[in-house]
Amino acid sequence: MKNQRIRKAVFPVAGLGTRFLPATKTVPKEMMPIVDRPLIQYAVDEAVEAGCDTLVFVTNRYKHSVADYFDKAYELEHKLEKAGKIAQLELIRDVLPKGVRAVFVTQAEALGLGHAVLCARAAVGDEPFAVVLPDDLIWHRNGAGALSQIADLAEQSGSSVIAVEDVPRAMTGSYGIVDAPSFDNRHGGIASMVEKPAPGVAPSTLAVVGRYVLDARIFDLLEGLAPGKDSEIQLTDAISQLLPIHPVLAYRFQGTRFDCGTHLGLIEATIRFALDHEALSAATVVAMQQALAEMGVVEH
Ligand code: G1P
Repeated sequence: MKNQRIRKAVFPVAGLGTRFLPATKTVPKEMMPIVDRPLIQYAVDEAVEAGCDTLVFVTNRYKHSVADYFDKAYELEHKLEKAGKIAQLELIRDVLPKGVRAVFVTQAEALGLGHAVLCARAAVGDEPFAVVLPDDLIWHRNGAGALSQIADLAEQSGSSVIAVEDVPRAMTGSYGIVDAPSFDNRHGGIASMVEKPAPGVAPSTLAVVGRYVLDARIFDLLEGLAPGKDSEIQLTDAISQLLPIHPVLAYRFQGTRFDCGTHLGLIEATIRFALDHEALSAATVVAMQQALAEMGVVEH
């Protein structure tokens, strides 16, 4: 990986989202909104900001709405234009900025995150690329996005880079966990990595968050991989195999991550983005105070 800037980002969006049933019966979880934008839009914006111009969505055959969302909405655009609703028109035109293209590939079977990434191989080719998991929504007020941060480090160092954050030891079973002996509070080389270890055997409490910049050799490794944790083809296992042949750094990003794969994470993200919203912030504070008082949670 010769100090190349990433141009391509892979979004694995083929999951069933069973945690959010019944909503996800018809709405893919990546289309769940935080205020007025679906989760996938935040992920796409972060990738575009990091310099990506080719976005590869790994979907399943039921997720037409993700492709529809990034497609041109001729009829709606025409109506808004005729009605002079220019601000709204810009909003729907900007879902994919000019010069950025979307590619859709299908993951026929849900065989795991590693398998989803492998499905993007033909679209990515032989260059370093990003993987962005839209469930992990990262808010960094007025600062560079998390992907941009790790893409900078990958470009400077010629290494692969994975975003990490500290989690309570009791939570290691929900994440890929890295062992980075030289970690200096911001970054360090990864010596080993394990998918969802029990707290008692986790090598550290530094957890992988859904942002990766990876060398394209990962595809060969994924190709030959046997199912791992939960009988799935795990990206973590392929990265473990990459370690002896190519350096992979862990990077503690600046920003706040919301785990929008959980109910609470989705709620926290909604609160944060509403409080940070120019037009909604003050009213949100009032609404929250009122709700807390009416529910008897705090005195008004
Ligand atoms: C995936 C990865 C895991 C990583 C996590 C981050 O797990 O397999 O290593 O820590 O994303 O969100 P999932 O949450 O899809 O089970």
